[in-house]
Amino acid sequence: MDKKDTREIIKRILKDYIYQHKTKLLVSFFCMALIAAATAGNAWLMQPVLDEIFINKNQKLIFIIPIIVFLIALTKGIASYFQSILMSFVGYKMVAQIQKDMFENLIRCDLSYFNQINSGTLVSRFISDVGSISRGIHNVIVNIIKDSLTFIFLVGVMFYHDTKLAVISLFIFPLAIYPISRIGKRLRKISKNTQVGFGLLTSKLAESIGSIKTIKSFNNETHETQKISKEIDNIFNLTFKSTKVNSISRPLMETLGGLAIAIIIFIGGSQVIMEQTTPGTFFSFLTALLMAYQPVKSLATLNATLQIAMASAERIFEILDEQPQIKNLERTEDHKFKSIKSQNLKISNLSFKYNSSDKLILKDINLEILDGEKIAIVGYSGAGKTTLMNLLPRFFDPNKGQITIGGINIKNLSLEFLRNHFSLVSQDIVLFDQTLQYNVSYGKDRVLKKDIELACRKANCNEFINKFPNKLNQQIGEDGTKLSGGQKQRVAIARAFLKNAPFLLLDEATSSLDSKSESRINKSLDSLMNNRTTLVIAHRLSTIINADRIVILHNGRVADIGTHKNLLKKSVIYKDLYELQFKNKNAKKNTST
Ligand SMILES: Nc1ncnc2c1ncn2[C@@H]1O[C@H](COP(=O)(O)OP(=O)(O)OP(=O)(O)O)[C@@H](O)[C@H]1O
Ligand SMILES: [Mg+2]
Repeated sequence: MDKKDTREIIKRILKDYIYQHKTKLLVSFFCMALIAAATAGNAWLMQPVLDEIFINKNQKLIFIIPIIVFLIALTKGIASYFQSILMSFVGYKMVAQIQKDMFENLIRCDLSYFNQINSGTLVSRFISDVGSISRGIHNVIVNIIKDSLTFIFLVGVMFYHDTKLAVISLFIFPLAIYPISRIGKRLRKISKNTQVGFGLLTSKLAESIGSIKTIKSFNNETHETQKISKEIDNIFNLTFKSTKVNSISRPLMETLGGLAIAIIIFIGGSQVIMEQTTPGTFFSFLTALLMAYQPVKSLATLNATLQIAMASAERIFEILDEQPQIKNLERTEDHKFKSIKSQNLKISNLSFKYNSSDKLILKDINLEILDGEKIAIVGYSGAGKTTLMNLLPRFFDPNKGQITIGGINIKNLSLEFLRNHFSLVSQDIVLFDQTLQYNVSYGKDRVLKKDIELACRKANCNEFINKFPNKLNQQIGEDGTKLSGGQKQRVAIARAFLKNAPFLLLDEATSSLDSKSESRINKSLDSLMNNRTTLVIAHRLSTIINADRIVILHNGRVADIGTHKNLLKKSVIYKDLYELQFKNKNAKKNTST
């Protein structure tokens, strides 16, 4: 990144996250100026202390100078306190605001974005990048205001006492600037790699902990430990490298500083010996010079700090600037929906591929689902069934062709309106670590308890809910771990009952359940499909038998459409699928009951 980009990023941070706190910042700047003045004041006081009290033995000043010293310390103390809390307030507010903005934008990104990005990377951007940018900006502001002012005031004291000596000591500072700017560039690169490393560690940790059962069943603990150790070592190497590079700047400055002091003592000391200047003036000068090293050292690392913060800012803005492709048109046709005669769902000439690959998953699909019809989709695993279903609520958009409801292209409806019309019960049910009630009524703001109870009853949930001591207020654990597979499915069905949308998208679970549990789920699913236009990816025999039409999806194409009976006669694929998936399952059930 060049200077221009850095300037753009800083401008944006100032405008979006700093400017709104300008009053607090101004007060804080004022406090910083007081601190700087107090520091310089202390250095300046060395002269009267030495010359007037110690050498001239001035009786009056013996009272006045200590009082001034105390007042300066008091002012500096109060100013430091306010400067610190005001700056921290602005810093933490900035962190909070950036994190909120990031999440707000992220949650609206397309599903395809989440398919591409690694979750650990996202978490690391939320936590460590935001922290690093805030620390960076804090340090840069304090450097620029407090340290520069302190430096300027102290140099003022030096020039006031002895211009020639002041010029000589200042000569040595610029020597250090070149190596320090080089260090900044290297640090930025290392910092970038470190953040990537943290992201990888986070996601691998989450993956290992989440798959603990699989790991144990394969006795693979050692392998996992090695995997995580590798990431930890990588981070160790990078952080240590960063410290090594960073650590060069301080000794460099200190050596150069020592050189300056040595030269000043030689020249200034000679002047005192020759009585060209007073000891007080010389000591005041030397004190100012010594005190000036602290702010200069901070200023020397300013670039490094800035570089690290900029690297983080780049990654944060990447998330803030990610724009969804699937979004509302400026003028939607939601209002037209009321006047349409039938809500027929029509898929025309549709082709689709995922961004991550070139292979078309769906090819030239044509299908019309009539109002109230039940369509079952069958096909081998990987045929594209779930993919097709995902296009209806626009989780993804087709690359070719279109989907209409009652003649209205779904792209012309608002996403909220469209998705309100679909209930989705997917293959993999995801529940929140909350109460049953929260999970069933998820996405509904105002909902009556009796409606939740009714939905649970219809989904056959009552049988297990009543066994919980807290009933609907039962916490179900992360991803519903406190529920069985069948119970989770019924919670998902209850959700769909409560949502009561006209279209039902049902991706039946492939996992086999015991027959008692399955018959309960069958019953609730059948009643859920009642009176709803349904597209169901079928894995149960009863579904295909009761469907109005069955669509065979094969290699991304519609291979055939028909009823169970006539497909058995005319379609080889269907017969094979029937033997493979439906008939056997049924036979198994017959033997087990
Ligand atoms: N997010 C994704 N990115 C890239 N390719 C994907 C993605 N999801 C699925 N695919 C690919 O698309 C093809 C169809 O997947 P899909 O999930 O639609 O199959 P399916 O018919 O539902 O299978 P199953 O019966 O096993 O659930 C598969 O070959 C799969 O590898
Ligand atoms: Mg599927």
